[in-house]
Amino acid sequence: MPAPADGVARAAGDPSRRTVPGSPSGAVDRSAVDPDRMRARLAAIEPTAVADPGAVVVVRAPGRVNLIGEHTDYNDGLVLPAAIDLEIRISLVPTRDRRVEIVLDATGERAGFDLDAVIAAGPARRGGFVDYVAGTAWAMHEAGMPLRGFRGILASTLPQGSGLSSSAALELASAWALSPATDPAVDALTLARICQRAENAYVGVACGLMDQFASSCGRADGAVLLDCRSLEHRAVPLPLAEHALVVCHTGSERKLQASEYNARRAQCERAVAVLAERGLPVRALRDVTPAMLDGLRGVLDDETFRRCAHVVGEDARVLATIDALGRGDLLAVGRLFAESHASLRDLYEVSSPELDALVAIAEGVPGVVAARMTGAGFGGCTVNLVRRDAVDALARAVHSEYPARTGLTPRVLAVDPAAGAGIAAPTDPTA
Ligand code: GLA
Repeated sequence: MPAPADGVARAAGDPSRRTVPGSPSGAVDRSAVDPDRMRARLAAIEPTAVADPGAVVVVRAPGRVNLIGEHTDYNDGLVLPAAIDLEIRISLVPTRDRRVEIVLDATGERAGFDLDAVIAAGPARRGGFVDYVAGTAWAMHEAGMPLRGFRGILASTLPQGSGLSSSAALELASAWALSPATDPAVDALTLARICQRAENAYVGVACGLMDQFASSCGRADGAVLLDCRSLEHRAVPLPLAEHALVVCHTGSERKLQASEYNARRAQCERAVAVLAERGLPVRALRDVTPAMLDGLRGVLDDETFRRCAHVVGEDARVLATIDALGRGDLLAVGRLFAESHASLRDLYEVSSPELDALVAIAEGVPGVVAARMTGAGFGGCTVNLVRRDAVDALARAVHSEYPARTGLTPRVLAVDPAAGAGIAAPTDPTA
């Protein structure tokens, strides 16, 4: 496929937007999840898909960007993610034999397990994508949910390991695939929590709820604010008539992510323990007020203090961003994104030179309203709010400046908000 002049890969369904950027690795190939193609691939491994096409079910689960509220979810704080139209799909035929067999469309890799064996064994990782599926089955059973076996083909438009929540999307897609009824017997938020449990207890990453929440409860009309303590959530409209959400991918592997992530979380928990020991009314860093923080300089060691300062500031920035979006004050949104990025870089220390370079390049492009790293960090992606007429200029700047600065090939993806996980409409490749 020829590279478009602007180098922007667009994820949405309009064929004119299904273009690929300058490097093959950056392609968003929507044909990967085309329903006819997936049905044909499924028929090749599961003959009943041919005999009874009506028995084929296609489930989908989206990735996410987080607009702001980073490393706050496991501190009982606030997050503002949007599910996006890059997603995982499983095309499947349900079976009665309690076996799950999945083939990865991209590589042909095949994996499977017996549902009852997984339930009996409890958390026992094997390594690889199947852990997310088996972990979800285990967590669903633990929550009292019924399960079914299936034969399925798994395809994805979501770059794996890029900080766009491919793990959560895999868990949510698995949960829908494993549910015997037309939808899971629990609401979308409860399902997100069950999938988070799969990731925490089975896969072994101590993540918060944000990613599973976004993949399960996302909305096609914007972002969703989640209070990670009360679990209250509400839609937050984004100014997408004149602006686009653009993801810039560093092209770098996320290094040390799981261990550093778990270490940050442990640091936050230790800080809470110290504060509680001193009699402060603190259950989580969510409870630390800016005034309280000032008094903690000598009490916490410098590094722990900086971690706390990030979380306290970031919670406030989420509220300020929602306020600014409501007022249409995009200058303020830009300032808040910049402050969030600086805080993640300097206080929480989860950014990387590559993420910093992408943000610096974006900030130099007129029409880029806001830019910051998104997700856990240590590589992955930035999220940008960009005037629609400036998206091409951003892509050109990133493609021309970033490789020289880092030696890496970036990807620039224009994305749209998407609905949370569910059954895919039979003819709609983008849902
Ligand atoms: C990862 C985790 C989330 C959240 C973010 C950082 O994406 O899965 O729970 O903690 O990092 O905001």
